[in-house]
Amino acid sequence: MKLRYFSHSAFQITTNEGKVILIDPFLDGNPTSPVKADDVRADYIILTHGHGDHIGDAFSIAKRCGSTFICVNELGNYCIKNGFKSHNMHIGGAHNFDFGRVKFTIAHHGSMTPDEYYAGEPSGVVLTIDGKVIYHTGDTGLFYDMKLIGELNKIDYMMLPIGDNFTMGINDAVKAVEFANPGTAIPMHFNTFPVINADPNEFKEKVNKIGKVCKVMEFGEEIEL
Ligand code: NI
Ligand code: MN
Repeated sequence: MKLRYFSHSAFQITTNEGKVILIDPFLDGNPTSPVKADDVRADYIILTHGHGDHIGDAFSIAKRCGSTFICVNELGNYCIKNGFKSHNMHIGGAHNFDFGRVKFTIAHHGSMTPDEYYAGEPSGVVLTIDGKVIYHTGDTGLFYDMKLIGELNKIDYMMLPIGDNFTMGINDAVKAVEFANPGTAIPMHFNTFPVINADPNEFKEKVNKIGKVCKVMEFGEEIEL
């Protein structure tokens, strides 16, 4: 399986079978993304919440590729209302797809679409794909139940925000890594806009200091998991 990071909270997973899953594909309006929406394709698009920097280019990609959305019920209904396919789920629920398993988790944040449609609760996702467990927290503040998420899942990779202001900052994110106990922590949601500027190497040093591994992915970088 391959994991590609486009910057902000946008990731692309390509499974060993060649299925492509995008998470929060904010590309064209994202000043740090090295790719544009027209450069990617998706079989599935997972949205953690309705904010514009997460829905991003999801609709234009889904229109071109016939992608299926995976998100919480209210946000899924918004996608369906706009003419797209969605597999609606909700927090605490898991489902086995043809690429792997998706389970929705809580996230402490807000959620409304750019055109002010109520999008339900914000969320994170725990993905089990090709034998690896990936936890994308979505936008969130620190919460103690990350410890429970780490106890219930042997997390291999955890993507979590470090940019502060709207989400956890570096120090809270280090605590989140301690709670969820992933094999590797991957910082996200930083340096897209000045208000969320943060040094990922400072995060990495602090994660290393608690005896954990951190991989700072370059914007556009793809790694093999
Ligand atoms: Ni948000
Ligand atoms: Mn955000």
